[in-house]
Amino acid sequence: MPVAKVRKAVFPAAGLGTRFLPATKAQPKEMLPLVDKPIIQYGVEEALQSGISNIIIVTGRGKSAIEDHFDVSFELENLLESRSKKELLKIVRQVSDLIDISYIRQKEALGLGHAVLRAKELVGPEPFATVLADDVIDAATPCIRQLLDVYEFFGAPVLAVMEVPKEAISSYGCIDAEPVTCNGSKGQVFRIRDLVEKPKASEAPSNLAIIGRYILTPDIFDSIGSITPGAGGELQLTDALRHQLRSRPLYAVKFEGKRYDAGDKLGFLKATVEFALRRADLGADFREYLKGLTL
Ligand code: G1P
Repeated sequence: MPVAKVRKAVFPAAGLGTRFLPATKAQPKEMLPLVDKPIIQYGVEEALQSGISNIIIVTGRGKSAIEDHFDVSFELENLLESRSKKELLKIVRQVSDLIDISYIRQKEALGLGHAVLRAKELVGPEPFATVLADDVIDAATPCIRQLLDVYEFFGAPVLAVMEVPKEAISSYGCIDAEPVTCNGSKGQVFRIRDLVEKPKASEAPSNLAIIGRYILTPDIFDSIGSITPGAGGELQLTDALRHQLRSRPLYAVKFEGKRYDAGDKLGFLKATVEFALRRADLGADFREYLKGLTL
């Protein structure tokens, strides 16, 4: 039987962004720009390039800039049109033309599991992707597409993972897993034996960290409903997946590509520098400038 197509992607975006204060006091962290594009737009474009055009954003208080960003801006478009700024007009229109987005509110920040559960009615009884926009992934094949390929092979939930230094594992969900063959290739795909949210380095089952891309099945909502608050007193998606593992297999993909933690100041700076260096309009001048710095 062919597996159900993944048509929707959920973007939890209700977090308070405390790691970026004071920049995030009056603006959502998802709107901080990497060069000239807000962080969340990278994730939305990745979903689109992976064949998913139905976006659900779980927002909270003070997040209206996200809705405005993906909406039509008549004043701005009129102004650009009257001044014949065709290129800028195209860029601005591309944003609102991208996709149809639905929004749902998460009234309290009770954890990632809770945020995903808020999307239950909008997702309905079908598989869906979940994207944590803080994790910006630059890859030849979009990361969500890489996960979808594995989902389509096994017909089961799939998480993105990457190897991290052992001392960093306590910042992530961590999996215990064995390599499996998928589409003839071995080494990049794993069947998950167990998973744990933010373990101490000494207790972590591996150095494979969960990164913010998931293909989930609708039974995850029941699992989220069955768990109690875990790490940090929050309802954790990792704990819900652990619950789900009792009744179905779960898989993980060590994706190809480079991940930036744009929710962290240093990660954000690295992404900014590398993305700017790759830009056709900025890269050469920026490289010259960097070379001229006395470091
Ligand atoms: C969340 C997840 C965690 C995952 C991480 C990836 O944690 O709970 O399992 O490893 O995203 O970025 P957060 O960074 O929101 O604390």
